[in-house]
Amino acid sequence: MSKRKLLVANWKMNLPPEGVEHYCARLNDLEEIERLALVIAPPFPFIHEVRSSVRGSVAVGSQNCSDRDDGAFTGEVSAAMLREAGAAWVIVGHSERRSLHGETNSLIAMKARAAISAELTPVVCVGESSEVRNAGHPEDFICGQLRESLKGFEAGSLVVAYEPVWAIGTGRHATPEIVSAAHQALRQQLTELNLADALLLYGGSVSPENSAELAAIDAVDGFLVGGASLDSSRFLSIRQAFAG
Ligand code: PGA
Repeated sequence: MSKRKLLVANWKMNLPPEGVEHYCARLNDLEEIERLALVIAPPFPFIHEVRSSVRGSVAVGSQNCSDRDDGAFTGEVSAAMLREAGAAWVIVGHSERRSLHGETNSLIAMKARAAISAELTPVVCVGESSEVRNAGHPEDFICGQLRESLKGFEAGSLVVAYEPVWAIGTGRHATPEIVSAAHQALRQQLTELNLADALLLYGGSVSPENSAELAAIDAVDGFLVGGASLDSSRFLSIRQAFAG
């Protein structure tokens, strides 16, 4: 049987220029690809709309959640509230949250645990900067990030995304050699943490032009797609990389 695969659209703080309704309608026209799950992660206020516009086999995710359950945390949204709004997944520890909002590995670990308590599947992101890569041994760095970002995480459905910071939004994706080395190291780390069932995604300038080459890498279980996920035609053409 073919392996389980996952394709996640991270719209960031953007909406598809063609409109949410048109985008969702295009997803509803698809023939299913066996063992491939699709997740759309829109900005918070659109979670409910996307959930009610796509058919059951397409899931909805959030791009962030609070580490707390409730209380005086102005501007925050709890994992349970996201679940209530229709999300089943949540991205935590994206590099933009780490660099622009000062999120630490320990905060990310708390968010991942909050997600599990609310029955959301966390997509935990790790990835090195170009400085770290140039200094050597980037795999040690990302495995360290993974261990710290999963502290106290015992069980539950989990996805990890390897997103090198220098590849995000730059049009410069990681080579298959870099992706393979990173994914092998992360896979071994997950096994040591007794989390061998986790899916391992690649993210960073995935496009219709490079998706077939990247999807062919054995250690890649799917993609986290930013810019190219905002256009349904480009996103669906990436999806074809997992057909057959
Ligand atoms: P990108 O973003 O595909 O635009 O590089 C990926 C991400 O940030 O998740």
